[in-house]
Amino acid sequence: MKVSIQREFDFIEYDVDMSDATLLEVLNKIKIDQDSSLAYSSGCRSSVCGSCAVRVNGKEVLACSYKVKEGDSIEPLKNVPLIRDLVVDMDKALETNRRAKAWMKECDTSAQLTPENEFVNALQSDCILCGSCYSACPVYSLNEAFLGPFALTRVWKYVSDKRELDTTEKLETIQTNGVWDCTLCNECTLVCPQGISSKADIEKLRMKSTMAGYTDPNFANSFGGGFSFDGSPSF
Ligand code: SF4
Ligand code: SF4
Ligand code: FES
Repeated sequence: MKVSIQREFDFIEYDVDMSDATLLEVLNKIKIDQDSSLAYSSGCRSSVCGSCAVRVNGKEVLACSYKVKEGDSIEPLKNVPLIRDLVVDMDKALETNRRAKAWMKECDTSAQLTPENEFVNALQSDCILCGSCYSACPVYSLNEAFLGPFALTRVWKYVSDKRELDTTEKLETIQTNGVWDCTLCNECTLVCPQGISSKADIEKLRMKSTMAGYTDPNFANSFGGGFSFDGSPSF
């Protein structure tokens, strides 16, 4: 089976005698048998740590769960600095969590969560910070200041948590380079290995923002002014 891997200057083709193998198994085999200089990231080998995300034929996957096919073309994630071969620097993408203030600010420790409460943001808690959604996001590719999919998903996780007593700062933070800049293209959802829809979370954050009195600046600008919370024009 032949696969191509993006190296420093070009794609290099490798021939491996394997079938029904994950991409991580193939990369390990190439590194041991053919090219010890090949660089890639991995950790848990079971789709938990998020460190092995790459692109295959242009689509983000986890190397430890993707089954390799003849002719596959393997590249590093996009929209993050390349360190070497398939290894990227995720610091800038992870920094978006800090910029988005994606944490609990004031916790009501006495609040009891029902199973229904836990269900509201259970999925968002499954994010493994693999970075696939940032690689796929066309807005982040053009604007690194955009808070982006997983940071906004984390904001929704805390904004929707009934133990959070103060959501004001988080909602304020996501108004600029945040919820209104997303094009709702859904690319982030399509590549998420955990089945998280950041697009859906962003839509819920937009609704929450509107209920808190914020408006879509693009909508307001198209009228040359804004609208107050009761719907009347405020020029
Ligand atoms: S839906 Fe929004 S956050 Fe997701 S990829 Fe598209 S622009 Fe990016
Ligand atoms: S939301 Fe999904 S794609 Fe994005 S970092 Fe988390 S697990 Fe990966
Ligand atoms: S090695 Fe941990 S998710 Fe793939």
